Amino acid sequence: MRLKLAAGNWKMNGTTAALSELEALARAFPNPTVDVLICPPATLLHQAAESVRETGITVGGQDCHAATSGAHTGDISADMLLDAGANAVILGHSERREDHGEQNEDVRAKARAAMDAGLKAIICVGESLEQREAANTLDIIGGQMSGSIPDQSTGENLIVAYEPIWAIGTGKVPTLNEIGEVHDFIRTRLERRFGEGVGRSVRLLYGGSVKPSNAEDIFGVSNVDGALVGGASLKAQDFSGIIDALQKA
Ligand code: PGA
Repeated sequence: MRLKLAAGNWKMNGTTAALSELEALARAFPNPTVDVLICPPATLLHQAAESVRETGITVGGQDCHAATSGAHTGDISADMLLDAGANAVILGHSERREDHGEQNEDVRAKARAAMDAGLKAIICVGESLEQREAANTLDIIGGQMSGSIPDQSTGENLIVAYEPIWAIGTGKVPTLNEIGEVHDFIRTRLERRFGEGVGRSVRLLYGGSVKPSNAEDIFGVSNVDGALVGGASLKAQDFSGIIDALQKA
């Protein structure tokens, strides 16, 4: 009932030359049986959206402002992302929380703006290594969820990505049991807050060093509905391996 999702986060990587990777991906998956989303840098969004138009691939942003317009130099509103061709936006990524001091309430305000504009909000949560070692993981995730996820969330407009900070870009991955424990916890919390119907329909992604070589195992974990992929989404060949694994899961 939950359509699986392979989401790529290009972060601050890629100029127009990188669009050839997106085109290669669209050629490799003319009719994907899972959702495939690429979030390129904002400068490429419009061109990326044009290049995958009428394919099974969609594009999204990596952040948006909470306001609809105004005096916010350098920022981008949810409406602008939509206008550029996005259908989703990543919010509260740990790199935004760290580099820009984003707090849960900032992420919640951005998510509200994204949902109001008609975008899907991919809200990221995840613990640091210190927090995991102190056995605080579930407390941290629970707090991030209550603080960052808006009340208007539904299975259609919300996607939650569990991304342990220590697993991002490091090649380190939690055990399958650890991933399962957190995903089951997120599911239960969503069901409790939004009711079973909505709670069960929200897609949960795992993110942090997902590669073609570990994707199949990760996609076999309960309540893992796909992945949010950084490094391995930059090359069509790597990301294809992950999409293949998700299609078979
Ligand atoms: P990674 O990044 O796949 O390079 O670890 C994941 C992310 O930050 O979304």
